Amino acid sequence: MTQSLTIRRPDDWHLHLRDGAMLQAVLPATTAHFARAIIMPNLVPPVVTSAKAMEYRDRILAAVPEGADFTPLMTLYLTEDTDPADVAAAQASGLVHAVKLYPAGATTNSASGVSNFDKVRPVLEKMAEIGLPLCVHGEVTDPDIDIFDREAVFIDRVLDPIRLSTPGLRVVMEHITTKDAVDYARTQDDTLGATITTHHLVINRNHILAGGIKPHYYCLPVAKREEHRLALRAAATSGDARFFLGTDSAPHTDANKLLPCGCAGCFTAPNTLSILAQVFEEDGALDQLEGFTSLNGPAFYRLPANTDTITLEKSGANYPSHIDTADGLVTVFDPGFPLDWAVR
Ligand code: NCD
Ligand code: ZN
Repeated sequence: MTQSLTIRRPDDWHLHLRDGAMLQAVLPATTAHFARAIIMPNLVPPVVTSAKAMEYRDRILAAVPEGADFTPLMTLYLTEDTDPADVAAAQASGLVHAVKLYPAGATTNSASGVSNFDKVRPVLEKMAEIGLPLCVHGEVTDPDIDIFDREAVFIDRVLDPIRLSTPGLRVVMEHITTKDAVDYARTQDDTLGATITTHHLVINRNHILAGGIKPHYYCLPVAKREEHRLALRAAATSGDARFFLGTDSAPHTDANKLLPCGCAGCFTAPNTLSILAQVFEEDGALDQLEGFTSLNGPAFYRLPANTDTITLEKSGANYPSHIDTADGLVTVFDPGFPLDWAVR
């Protein structure tokens, strides 16, 4: 039985680092294992211009722990006022690696997102021209659509039309949660990639709702039925280069999670690699772990894979149940089973 596994150092292609005291507290969990991460721009206020992205990048770099080597890959939050020239300049300078589309109101801090897709057409056309990926939160916000159907409906109503009307636009379907998304991604050309989170490989909607409500398993897009989780696992472990890791590690304080109207997000940065090693091993696919965590993402983003490595050992993972921040405790995602694999 494999007891140790050395892989190229992973990257996280969808990460929330927040700002201020929270950034300070959560960043070390990522820099301990990951070399780079696509940084989500949904701060309050959101990161909407290259000037704001540069300031945010500098705050992240200032918070990187001594001795750690970490590169934040910045994104811009797409609004109906985004300037195509600013986006192009931000890519040309190497600052920005993607633009993030939140349908207005879809998730945490998405109020400034897009309602009228015609208004962002010039930006999307510029992005297609320069090869800059659009990261998509793929849920419709129509209150008439059941929350468990919002991803599938988004693919038909929004994603596919955007891609058809903007040939060449490179798109990442982020944190996919359904078999519908897996099936769609599998039939598309190489302009499409899809990230999968750690938690969606482990939980289904029963984990959130059966036997008492579990706010720490509530995230967006919300976990779906078991058949969807199994489709995600099959996609992640398949070796298909379209699928890669975006943890969507999204820390909120317990005080904000455990409210009558609690925040969405699972904080998985500390134990993501231990969980993934276990998932891939269970599915007989440890040999595909490196592709999912360390090779497919850079290939999509047209960046070199990392040259250094990390080693996982089957010695039992130790991770904290909470981390302490100046804003309060943040609960670490509990996969619900003991973790065998530890990052050495
Ligand atoms: C994210 C957050 O908290 O910023 N929450 C989540 O449930 N994933 C926002 C997001 O990525 O949807
Ligand atoms: Zn997210």
